[in-house]
Amino acid sequence: QITPILLCGGSGTRLWPLSRKSYPKQFALMVGGVSLFQASAQRLSGQEATTAFARPVVVTGSDYRFVVTEQLARVGIDPGPILIEPAARNTAPAVLAAALHLAQSDPEAVALVAPSDHEIPNPQAFRAAVRRGLPALRTGQIVTFGITPDRAEIGYGYLELAAESQSEAVPLSRFVEKPDAVRAAEMVAQGNFLWNAGIFLFRVRDLITAYEKFAPEMLQKVRKALELGRNDLGFLRLDPEAWDGVQDVSIDYAVMEKATNLSVVPFSEGWSDLGGWDAVWRQGTPDAAGVVTSSHATAIDCRDTLLRSESEAVELVGIGLTDIIAIATPDAVLVASANRAQDVKQAVAVLKARR
Ligand code: GDD
Ligand code: MG
Repeated sequence: QITPILLCGGSGTRLWPLSRKSYPKQFALMVGGVSLFQASAQRLSGQEATTAFARPVVVTGSDYRFVVTEQLARVGIDPGPILIEPAARNTAPAVLAAALHLAQSDPEAVALVAPSDHEIPNPQAFRAAVRRGLPALRTGQIVTFGITPDRAEIGYGYLELAAESQSEAVPLSRFVEKPDAVRAAEMVAQGNFLWNAGIFLFRVRDLITAYEKFAPEMLQKVRKALELGRNDLGFLRLDPEAWDGVQDVSIDYAVMEKATNLSVVPFSEGWSDLGGWDAVWRQGTPDAAGVVTSSHATAIDCRDTLLRSESEAVELVGIGLTDIIAIATPDAVLVASANRAQDVKQAVAVLKARR
């Protein structure tokens, strides 16, 4: 059995102003009538003959706990423990808390970390890829999933294959998180790199060993936050005091870039991280001029542009624009160069600091 660890505590700042701290992207953006979070949970549920999933462990922030339970109930998924972070500290501590919790009852437990901002159109093919990763766990590997890159994206991690890629897990020689544009272009040109899908498969004790080596201080603090955590109406609240000093860092930087026991299962059946407006633009069906518009948005003589109105009450019109992203909501408007989509995060930080 594989236990999914569902991460859904990010605030999705790169999709501001649609994604807000109070209602982040993963719960809002609808694809086929369900949120991205619900789709992730559904993808990793059920008991197929060959891959059986246990009830998921969910790690999220206090603000989102009822959205989580409500959205899971609506798709008929009975969650396992729901861990509440006193404050968002990015993915390294969140994954660790879930892994430690699972290890309490079974250190050999196999877990699959799943972000909740992805779209994977073919869940069955994805589950087959997960299955192909299982044999590598016997030798203590941490398995990643690799996507063939089609551009020099700077928002992703890159996986360097140590061997010719096959359908089984292949050893990795290097993990490079979010390179700059020059390095990203080099890696794509080199041809032996895949994008990191942000999904990880491991035995919990092997992951904990990796934290012991590369993030011992975090391990100690998160362990304490879990020990002192308390049950609150069925939610497991991590101890705020112990959590307070935990480093704010992603699992990619804290562990994966340093680990030497990584493997990758290539996955080519369709995957996208809807984490930024550039991805939303690509996901929409651009017309011949590369323009994507929502309802209540009109493009006149535009090229390679995304225009979205998030409200019936707001008409958005663009004239003669090239490489622009414009998003209008009732109380905020974003206008950005398309190649700066990843920097929307900074805008949110600036606004927050001013408040
Ligand atoms: N519980 C919890 N707490 N979840 C979090 C937190 C947190 O503090 N921060 C982020 N998450 C969740 C997000 O909601 C998302 O579902 C997932 O963790 C990944 O976080 P992102 O912030 O979206 O990461 P990323 O997209 O920049 O980078 C990761 O994914 C890429 C592919 O999508 C990395 O793993 C990259 O290497 C990878 O290429
Ligand atoms: Mg993401």
